[in-house]
Amino acid sequence: MDWGMKNRISKIINPKDGHTVMLAVDHGYFMGPTTGLENIKTMTDPLIKYADTLMLTRGALRNYIDPETKIPIVLRVSGGTSILNENNLLHEGIIVDIEDAIRLNVSGVAFSILVGQSFERDTILGLTKYIDECERYGIPVLAVTAVGKGLGKDAKYLSLASRMAAELGAHIVKTYYCKDFEKVVETCPVPIVIAGGKKIPEQEALQMAYDALQAGAIGVDMGRNVFQSSDPVGMIKAVNAIVHSKYKPKEAFDVFKSNKK
Ligand code: R5P
Repeated sequence: MDWGMKNRISKIINPKDGHTVMLAVDHGYFMGPTTGLENIKTMTDPLIKYADTLMLTRGALRNYIDPETKIPIVLRVSGGTSILNENNLLHEGIIVDIEDAIRLNVSGVAFSILVGQSFERDTILGLTKYIDECERYGIPVLAVTAVGKGLGKDAKYLSLASRMAAELGAHIVKTYYCKDFEKVVETCPVPIVIAGGKKIPEQEALQMAYDALQAGAIGVDMGRNVFQSSDPVGMIKAVNAIVHSKYKPKEAFDVFKSNKK
């Protein structure tokens, strides 16, 4: 691995503990003005100091984020379908040229694949094409893995998708937390972060983050469970305490509650 690649990975994953809190606010690329992200600047400004990385689209970066920001950026580079196109959801291709990703000075890029759907080949070949481009310039690729409808959040399918992404060259894998999650981690040779998924009660989201870390995940790439929380700052502080300070879920929930006061 060359110096540039290692240096960028160290911007995404904190070298002190090998963990990361990624704040995901890229939802607009297929969901439009998602609840909580009506104005990404207003939402993210107070959250950024508790995150290691910010994950978003190039349009959001240009329009909402101060170019003088210190937070490393992971740029979403796949997309192409909207939430209204249910049968084709996640039938994604390349939406940002590598040259623009470099111009935006990103620390990494994120590309989604959908495994177990008729169009899986398109998304997988899109990912590998982008990985080849990124290898040329030393940019790490976070593969965002999802599995086809009906396969659910099952270790069997999530480990299939995660292992595939790693074997195809992804440097970091993002997947969903599930029962027997350690099997997903154990069979994936690159670091894994979990997505938060739909908004659930804060205590449950903190428990999920803790369980994922216990099972071997290196952190979270969390969106809605932070920015749709009744107290987004309290929530990201609590998540950060689990990821970087080894807090138990109950202690982290206390962090969340005390922030509001
Ligand atoms: C999904 O495709 C997006 O990449 C989201 O950023 C990702 O799912 C994480 O956000 P959330 O925690 O809201 O699921």
